[in-house]
Amino acid sequence: MQRYLPPRLLRRQVVVGSTFCHHRMKLLDKIGREFSGYNILESGKRLLDRKPLQCSLYVTDRCNLDCAYCTEYDNSRPHPRLDDLKKWLRKIRELGTMRIALVGGEPLIHPNIVELVRYCRELGFATSLTTNGFLLTRKLIAELEDAGLQVMQISVDRMTPSAITKKSFKTILPKLDYFRDSKISLHITGVICADTLPESQAVLETGLARGIPTEVRLVHADPLHRFRVDRGRREELERFIDSMIERKRRGEKIHTSEAILNYQRSLLRDEHVEWTCMAGYKLFFVSAQGKFWICSMVHTDKHIMDVTLDDLYANYRKKSCQKGCGVYCAVSASLLVEKPAQVLGREIVARAKRIPSTVRRSLTRDAHEATHSTITNPNGTHEVNGGAKGSPSADDGVTLRQSV
Ligand SMILES: C[S@@+](CC[C@H](N)C(=O)[O-])C[C@H]1O[C@@H](n2cnc3c(N)ncnc32)[C@H](O)[C@@H]1O
Ligand code: SF4
Ligand code: SF4
Repeated sequence: MQRYLPPRLLRRQVVVGSTFCHHRMKLLDKIGREFSGYNILESGKRLLDRKPLQCSLYVTDRCNLDCAYCTEYDNSRPHPRLDDLKKWLRKIRELGTMRIALVGGEPLIHPNIVELVRYCRELGFATSLTTNGFLLTRKLIAELEDAGLQVMQISVDRMTPSAITKKSFKTILPKLDYFRDSKISLHITGVICADTLPESQAVLETGLARGIPTEVRLVHADPLHRFRVDRGRREELERFIDSMIERKRRGEKIHTSEAILNYQRSLLRDEHVEWTCMAGYKLFFVSAQGKFWICSMVHTDKHIMDVTLDDLYANYRKKSCQKGCGVYCAVSASLLVEKPAQVLGREIVARAKRIPSTVRRSLTRDAHEATHSTITNPNGTHEVNGGAKGSPSADDGVTLRQSV
């Protein structure tokens, strides 16, 4: 049959056919990614044994910004040396840790950040990095991807900068385009306080409309239980959290579990939540001086090189600071270890709800792209890893992380 087609039409048919195949592969990849973020099989081992699941490593205390709510940066300290960071990473891995989260300060200002990511991957860690995004360039993203970075969290609090926080979409939106074909799974996280609340909804919509898993979460107190900024009006905050719970149930890409949204609502209502903090055991932090920290708020003077599995296990206990705890990654990992079937079950159902719209969008896109032989976005919006064009619904697949 094709023998009778004029060469120009034949060429076009081949292009259309291969574009369809390419997009079918991408669709399967997207669906697979919807379920890969939890790293279920690997992490499953850590639900059964006594070894740690994840560690957050401060690769530097230094930061290029000065968010008013933050207590996690200190520009008087030098960057830790690459050799020291590598030594601590080997020790963290020897303890059996599966996932490493590179945090700070601002990790991207460490001069060896790409090499560090590569080293984490060589050691076999699932690797994520949390950044304010200001230093991201197309080149740096390509280098991080090449080094094997799997997950990146960009923190965005507002649409425009304020005196409290400069982390806004004004800076980040133009950079989202750099992730268009990147294998790095991107998600966005914002802090909600009185200053950001009027724009938090817009931050959420902006991320979701581009198909990026997005989350905004309540500001937490400092290690002395003081809030550095006004938290905002309780009723307004509660309404907002309720709306996120509802959207999460509908299958939208709210980048946190329903359990953590419920937990935040309980915090606002001052309700008791039954849980056992696993910080210092299933998850822990290592400071930029190599000190073992139970979590970002509770520090010890012990060096990570001296920590044993027995030391970690001794932290498997309820903690006096649990009431009002705002270290959401610790709460999240603790609930996962305590109630894996419940937490994972709900998350899997929420992600499964996304699949029909992922397929629908992918098919629409296939038809559009095959006929136009182009992957440019007609309305000029920025889309990442396959975006949900124009609508804030949870659609295309970007791998989710869970609290790495
Ligand atoms: C300490 S920062 C380090 C990484 C990077 N500099 C950044 O801002 O993404 C890690 C995350 O903690 C969040 N964070 C800092 N202080 C907070 C607070 N008091 N309440 C809630 N989140 C906070 C930041 O917004 C960011 O998402
Ligand atoms: S950018 Fe990150 S580390 Fe720096 S001040 Fe803001 S929250 Fe803290
Ligand atoms: S309860 Fe919260 S603040 Fe206390 S150790 Fe656990 S994670 Fe840290």
